[in-house]
Amino acid sequence: MNPLLHKLQPYPFERLRQLFADLTPASEKSAISLSIGEPRHPSPPFVLEALAASLDKLANYPATAGLEALRGSIANWLTRRFALAGIDPAHQVLPVNGTREALFAFAQAVLTPGENGLVMMPNPFYQIYEGAALLAGAQPHFINCTPETGFLPDFAAVTEDQWRRCRLLYLCSPGNPTGAVLPQEQLQGLIALAREHDFVIASDECYSEIYREEDDPPPGLLQACAAMGDSDYRNCVVFHSLSKRSNLPGLRSGFVAGDAEILRDFLLYRTYHGSAMPLHHQLASIAAWEDEAHVRENRQRYRDKFSAVLAILDGHLEVQAPDAGFYLWPRTPLPDTEFARALYEGENVTVLPGRFLARDCGGVNPGESRVRMALVAEQAECEEAARRIVGLLLRLGR
Ligand SMILES: Cc1ncc(COP(=O)(O)O)c(C=O)c1O
Repeated sequence: MNPLLHKLQPYPFERLRQLFADLTPASEKSAISLSIGEPRHPSPPFVLEALAASLDKLANYPATAGLEALRGSIANWLTRRFALAGIDPAHQVLPVNGTREALFAFAQAVLTPGENGLVMMPNPFYQIYEGAALLAGAQPHFINCTPETGFLPDFAAVTEDQWRRCRLLYLCSPGNPTGAVLPQEQLQGLIALAREHDFVIASDECYSEIYREEDDPPPGLLQACAAMGDSDYRNCVVFHSLSKRSNLPGLRSGFVAGDAEILRDFLLYRTYHGSAMPLHHQLASIAAWEDEAHVRENRQRYRDKFSAVLAILDGHLEVQAPDAGFYLWPRTPLPDTEFARALYEGENVTVLPGRFLARDCGGVNPGESRVRMALVAEQAECEEAARRIVGLLLRLGR
């Protein structure tokens, strides 16, 4: 077997299962899970109809590059959403089966075997970045996200030598779990560094459509290029998904877009990897990318939920409203693992200890004493969870 497999860390949900193994939750209270970031608002009916109407396409093999029509609607969406001067759907857009597989596969395609380059990523982080780096034989390099840097990666702490050794930089904006958004000027600074040191930026923007202010959407990496008058998007690739935007996590539909040379090679990799999107999923995806009404409605649901939950937690838990995304990242009055255990045992509410999402780096684990709460359930259930958290805090005398 590939010895690099042994470098993979246990996935956070496995660690959570072990953390709770000896506990029996309060059975008189219904179970509420805030630990998994799976969207639970209803999928748009018109997308399901488009999916059902194209089931006959199961008779055909799909092409890895995807349908021209899908790449066209994605290019139109990108141009509208990120104020691009243009993007070539034939060479600068590629459908993927959700961003998870693409974020993983991308590292395998981009990194040179045996080079042992650095793959930089935020800390805490989406676990796939680390696994992708390790299985590509590269070295993960974590950049802490703390309150001192507004929960954004502390890029100032990266040395010149580390930038020189960097081959791939994963960004996550809006961030999971912090909800922090990288401003456009900072993205432009990173683009300049990527071109100077010739590394690739993989910008995971899968939460970009869940934001608080309707007239202030998070900027994206391609937008930052466009604002510099650049439509080659050199060294830059973005990752987007219908999972959160359109409540379609089971459709496994997303795309990558950006630098045409990188995407040409990534397409070659994917052809061998065998990761073409089924045709009926592609046709349903076209319907989803071409509609914004359901996305606005989805954002409003999250906004209402965040306001209600934050009002309940106010004065009890140290927590701030995130810029975007659907997570809260509060500081806990006890160590995060103890807080999660007490909440599960006493209130039957599951949250994810922050340390499971981060690594020790520079003498700190930026997830310690924080938990991730995914507000994905319906509002009443999220409010009930918040009330139970307050109940626990009062019992603990906090
Ligand atoms: C930061 C981040 N990136 C990517 C993904 C993967 O999403 P999908 O594969 O559904 O597009 C997730 C899912 O939770 C995520 O949190």
